Amino acid sequence: MTTNILIVGAGAVGAFYASRLALGPNTSVSVICRSNYRAVFASGFSITSPKYGSYTFRPSRTFANPKEAVDSNIIWDYVLVSTKALPDVSDDSEILVGLLKEGKTSVVLVQNGLGVEEPYVRRFPGATILSAVTVVSATQTEPGVIKHNRWTRISVGPYLLGHTDESETNEVQRKAIDSNTKFVGLLKDGGIVDADAYSHAKLQMVRWHKIAINASMNPSAVLSAGTTNQAMTLDPELSRHLRGVMEEVLSTAPKVLGTPLPKEFATPDAILTSTSKNTSGSKPSMLLDWEQGKKMELEVILGNPMRTARERGIEMPRLQSLYALLRMAQQNRDSVKKENKL
Ligand SMILES: NC(=O)c1ccc[n+]([C@@H]2O[C@H](COP(=O)([O-])OP(=O)(O)OC[C@H]3O[C@@H](n4cnc5c(N)ncnc54)[C@H](OP(=O)(O)O)[C@@H]3O)[C@@H](O)[C@H]2O)c1
Repeated sequence: MTTNILIVGAGAVGAFYASRLALGPNTSVSVICRSNYRAVFASGFSITSPKYGSYTFRPSRTFANPKEAVDSNIIWDYVLVSTKALPDVSDDSEILVGLLKEGKTSVVLVQNGLGVEEPYVRRFPGATILSAVTVVSATQTEPGVIKHNRWTRISVGPYLLGHTDESETNEVQRKAIDSNTKFVGLLKDGGIVDADAYSHAKLQMVRWHKIAINASMNPSAVLSAGTTNQAMTLDPELSRHLRGVMEEVLSTAPKVLGTPLPKEFATPDAILTSTSKNTSGSKPSMLLDWEQGKKMELEVILGNPMRTARERGIEMPRLQSLYALLRMAQQNRDSVKKENKL
């Protein structure tokens, strides 16, 4: 039987994983596009990768908007969301209205940040939600052209609010776990060998750990006027600052989650050392968004961890400073843009 997969947010990450999932036996992968619709409808995605070479991926169906996908009447097994997570701009869970069939469709969120699942749980309380964190470097250099630079790690776990590894599992939760295992299998079939299935609890640990990297590197690259990750690690004061942010996140996570982070997770030292060797000159996504005048994922990368900790009486002063400064910088930039248009 065919596994129908729909990608919502067919940009760098969405199109890259779509192209791999499409290689599995009996998978049919369709996409909802936005600004890249004309290019993708005409020629599909052109993908280059140091690992998989250069190839064209033609989605089974290319939809111009969510309505077209709803009108297709296809029953989706997986709806993979890989839009930028910008809850201060839009509630992207709305795009999924009419696309989910209860008991059949799983939503897979491939997005950075904390709390990205919440809008989907609120809108679709009975839906199966899988939460995914990826360490990948990819960009859409022009509409429909995807450059995969490096890494393919993707960790996926069922989102089972309130479930710990010790809790008993009910039937609905077991279904989500099965769907999770199947989805990771589909990624592996597509050649993503470092796709891993996690429990709900462990996936949230992975999310916090990724926050340590994103919340240190991304805002600092913007606030230091465009410094690359490698250059930041090689500057003694900036490197000390990055370590301070990472330590703040990694010491807060166990207090919020109620359990220590696994010993195998990379330490701030290991992250700094490996980043200092990354000569690619790559810029973090928040810096690219800032340079292009786009909204940055400030709420999910800085605001949500800070607020989640604060609700438990824990302050994160380094994150708070980064958040307050960048949120105002973004607000000021947007007001200037608006004034200039008037
Ligand atoms: N890129 C990476 O290397 C990387 C690595 C790890 C994690 N991530 C995370 O993965 C997520 C996706 O990032 P990305 O780099 O792939 O972003 P991206 O290249 O900007 O792709 C997002 C896509 O979503 C589309 N989109 C947004 N709203 C839509 C809507 N309402 N309807 C249809 N399409 C819509 C955008 O269309 P438009 O172009 O029209 O806006 C764009 O094609 C983010 O949370 C990011 O932090 C990215």
